[in-house]
Amino acid sequence: MKRKKLVVGNWKLHGSLLENQRLLNRLKQELPALSGVDTAVCLPFVYLHQAQTVLQDSGIGWGAQNVSQFTEGAFTSCISAKMVAEFGCTYTIIGHSERRALKLESNQVATKRLLNALHAGLTPIFCVGETLDERDGHMAELIVRNQMLNVVYGLDDEAFALAKKFNMVIAYEPVWAIGTGEHATPEQAQRMHAFIRMMVAERDREFAEHIRIVYGGSMAPHNAHSLLSMPDIDGGLIGRAALVAEDFIAICQTANQCLAQKTAALEPSPPAFSQ
Ligand code: PGA
Repeated sequence: MKRKKLVVGNWKLHGSLLENQRLLNRLKQELPALSGVDTAVCLPFVYLHQAQTVLQDSGIGWGAQNVSQFTEGAFTSCISAKMVAEFGCTYTIIGHSERRALKLESNQVATKRLLNALHAGLTPIFCVGETLDERDGHMAELIVRNQMLNVVYGLDDEAFALAKKFNMVIAYEPVWAIGTGEHATPEQAQRMHAFIRMMVAERDREFAEHIRIVYGGSMAPHNAHSLLSMPDIDGGLIGRAALVAEDFIAICQTANQCLAQKTAALEPSPPAFSQ
């Protein structure tokens, strides 16, 4: 199955109007030429308008880093999915491990946010991944399975149809690899991505073939090719390297080449020349 790669920058708590302008302008110069990869940046809420202004019609998407589990009401400081959708967002990250750890965001809360994102017409990038202790304790698959359960079985038919319609993305982000410079090996990541795809297939085989499962955790220009060449790794969620224009562009270029290589490998060989 040929899936177009997706590379998304997760800017986290970084940026200023001036720095963003420079970075977005650089991305706008380089990324639109890469037709074999979808690209996007997820910025702090307050910069969504800036992203919309700069990236409009560029082919580069933008999105939020979370949305509220509430839709409306007396919830001071919360920002709803419908609000971010008004700023032209395509994507929103949901259930990032930094949210799960810092804000004690449970699987149930993450699922509510996911539902709100889908009902607002956003493409959720739903994050799953184990901690180092969990991996060392041979519990990685169990943890990821648990995080995926709400996505696979917790959505009713209507919500699951929206997940398909808006091309829900899963991000496998081993917590021990995030921001540490230590990435999962391509084999470790591939194994987990295949496992996640198998879980989606338990609910819907066809969607399992189409859904993009991206990898996050210290992806950088030097390791992007080995990770992105894996058959079930459909792109990257990039933190630190997304803040450096050259690095993010290099990763997007690598993803673009990976699709071209895969396409060439899938094409039937020309008929043998006969005289
Ligand atoms: P990192 O972050 O690339 O800095 O490891 C990835 C993420 O947290 O999404």
